Parts: sequence; C-alpha cells; structure tokens
Amino acid sequence: MSLNESGKRDGFTSKFGIIAAAAGSAIGLGNIWRFPYVVGESGGGAFLLIYLSFVILLGIPVMLSEFVIGRKAKRNTFGAFKEIAPGTWWPVIGVMGIIAAFVILAFYSTIAGWTLHYVYTSIINGFQGQNTAELTLMFEKFQTSSFLPVFWQLIFIILTAVIILSGVKKGIEKYSKILMPFLLLLLIALSVRSITLPGSFDGLVFLFKPDFSKIDSTVILGALGQAFFSLSIGMGALITYSSYFPSRTNLANTAFEVSIADVIIAILAGIAIFPAMFSLGMQPEQGGAGLIFMVLPNVFMQIPGGYIVSIAFFILLAIAALTSSISIMEVVVAFLVEEFNILRRNATIITAVAAAFVGLFCTLSWGTFENITIGGRNIFDTLDFTASNVLLPLGGLLIVIFVGWYMKYAEVEDEMSNQGALRLKIFGIFRFLVRFIAPVAIAIIFLNAIGII
Ligand code: TRP
Repeated sequence: MSLNESGKRDGFTSKFGIIAAAAGSAIGLGNIWRFPYVVGESGGGAFLLIYLSFVILLGIPVMLSEFVIGRKAKRNTFGAFKEIAPGTWWPVIGVMGIIAAFVILAFYSTIAGWTLHYVYTSIINGFQGQNTAELTLMFEKFQTSSFLPVFWQLIFIILTAVIILSGVKKGIEKYSKILMPFLLLLLIALSVRSITLPGSFDGLVFLFKPDFSKIDSTVILGALGQAFFSLSIGMGALITYSSYFPSRTNLANTAFEVSIADVIIAILAGIAIFPAMFSLGMQPEQGGAGLIFMVLPNVFMQIPGGYIVSIAFFILLAIAALTSSISIMEVVVAFLVEEFNILRRNATIITAVAAAFVGLFCTLSWGTFENITIGGRNIFDTLDFTASNVLLPLGGLLIVIFVGWYMKYAEVEDEMSNQGALRLKIFGIFRFLVRFIAPVAIAIIFLNAIGII
C-alpha cells in the first residue's frame, strides 16, 4: 500500500469510506460467531453487562489511542512506535501485534472457511428436511473431517490476499461500504423470527437478565477478550488503518460510531441465536465454536423464503469476515513492506502462506489433531485464548500507557483535535480513562485471572 502510482502514500478517500473500513474491520465473525457462543458459555446477561462496560470504559479509549498513534505516525504498527518513540523499547508493542495478527488470521480463517462451506450447503439446499439433531450431526461431521474445512479455509485466505493486493482505496473501501447494511437488515429479520418462535422467551431472559452468580475471574477476562477481539483492538490493526486516514477525520467520533455499530451487531446476533436455541430445546452452553452453524439453519427453515435468506446470510457473513481478515492481514503486510522493503505482492504471498500453514493446525483441531490439547483446550481454542485473552489485552494495556503516559499531552490533543480544528469536549474524560482507568482495570483483570489478586 505504502506508495501509489503518483508516489504518495495511499489512503482512504471519503468519510463514509473511513468509517466503513474501520467498522468493516470491527464487524465480523467476532460479533456473529464468537459473541453468541462466548455469551452462552459465560452465563448470559451478567457477561453481557460486563462486556458492555468494558467496551465503553476500556475499548473506546484503546481504539481512540490506536487512531491517535496511527494517524500521527502514518506508519505500520511497528514503524509507528519507532516513529513516535525512537530509540525506545515501545516498538515491541508492534512485534506483539504482528504475532497476534498471525495467530488470529490462522484461526479466523478456519471459521471463515466454515462460513464458505455453509454458503455452499445453503445453495445445494443441504439443510432441507433435517431436524435439529441431524443438523447438529451434519455440522459435526463436517467440522471433524479433514479435507473440506481445509479446502474452504484456503479459499478464504486466497480471497483475503487478493483483496489486499488490490490496494486500499480500490479494495477495502469498495468492498466494505455497500454490503454491511444488508447484513444488518438480515440480522434484524432473523432476530424477529427467533423471538417469535414458541418457547423463545427464555432465550431473551438468558441474554438480558444478569445472574452474577455465574461470574468469576475467567469470565471477566473472557469479556475483556471478547470486547477487544470484536472491536479489532490491541494489536495495531486500527493503528495500521488510521495511518491511511486523512487529516480531517474526526477520530473520536469515528471511534464512537464504530464501537456502537459493533455492539449493535453483536447484540442482534445474540437475539437471533438464544431465543431460537431455547425454542429448539438446546442448552446455551452447548455448541461451542459451532454454535451458529448448528442453530441458524433451524431458523432459516422456519422463515418464508428461508432458502434465499440462508444463502444471503452466509454470503454476507463471509464478506463481513473478509473485511475483518483484510485488516488483520494488512497489519503484517504493511509491516513487511514498510520495514523490510519487500514488494507488496511478495509480502502478501509470504503472509498468506504462513497463515495457511498455522491455520491448517487450527482447522484440524477437531479431527486429525483432536488429541493435541493444552490444559484441556485443543489447538484452535489455545490459539484463540492466547490471542484474544492474552495478547490483545496486553497490547491494549501497553497502547493506553503509551498514549496516556509516554506521549505528550499536547501531542495527543493536537492529533485528536486535528491540530486545533475541532473542539474536544471529551478530551479530559479520554485522558483520565487512558491514564488511570484503562491501565489499572486491564492490569487488575489480568492479575485476577492469573490468581495473583
Ligand atoms: N473484530 C473482528 C471481528 O469481530 C476481527 C478482527 C479484525 C480483529 N481485526 C482484528 C480482532 C484485530 C483483533 C484484532 O470479527
């Protein structure tokens, strides 16, 4: 991306393009696949409440911090810290981010591959005439097999690489902005169907009624991990994206808008899933990573035009996954291009091949490699846990310390206010959150989960 034909650094063009690209990064499998099953495993309403407070108090400050760093430095994640803090150890945040990007890309493409397979299954009318148990079995058979999931994963990684290669404006912006409103509409339709199924009310109770007896330190860390994963923060994806923002972008508003959109999509996914689950007689903690693939086909079959709706849904979900995965791959590619002067094309190929290699082990976690476990987690869950619950919060912690304590007050204010062009009413709150609340809270959640506090 670094240089375009006219020798200038490439960038996003319109205001809507910027929000669409950042929202495209945030909104993805994290909202629709990960959120429901993590909520299901973590006890429902109380988890939701904690998750929402983390988004507001910790997530938005981290996101805004990433924007400040990225747009100020106009460099990749690693280079940005070298630029703002030359001769220090801060670029280590960038290194962590690049490792996290790899790990996430590997397991993300597994689930995206499942999504592609479900596009195919929808098209061939593969859900037709199957009851709930049969649909679950069908998913499990697919999940544990060795050829198809790997095949679809590779297709997804190739698609991601192709979009990355077409550059910022033409690629990312074009793909994100048209399609996401459709996903929103479909989710609303699914939610309406889900809550009108018989016996679905308990699902709403589960999702919205807090029961704090289910909360422990692991669940709290899980809520933090989910918030960070879903918002795309903690590893510099948004540092990389904001390095392409023009100088007139209102960073604070963008962070708010993206976070709100992200939360709305996640909650809608919850409303589409839990009422349907209760109506089908499934337990909320059942399903694990396969949850949406087992539950949603049941809902599609009870919708007029369900055949078309299921095709459209899985296609849109795959596209949402793509606009997220390009933001993950872009972190590594921008790093290789800008720091090592590797051609963009070669950097993309290297990244894709490496991600596919690690990704293979993730995808086979339920089949060929099911016996490889670490502390009871298979390969997939181990990588997801390490990235989402360890690397992202740790990255976020360092990022807020960097913006809150290392960068100068005036520097941050200048960047956030577009060199004084905007009046910032929230600057004081932001500063307080970034200096005190966010670092302390993230540190406590960590120490608590490890058992130190
Ligand atoms: N947030 C995306 C989702 O919800 C995934 C994602 C994209 C991501 N970029 C990221 C997660 C950077 C963590 C960090 O699907």
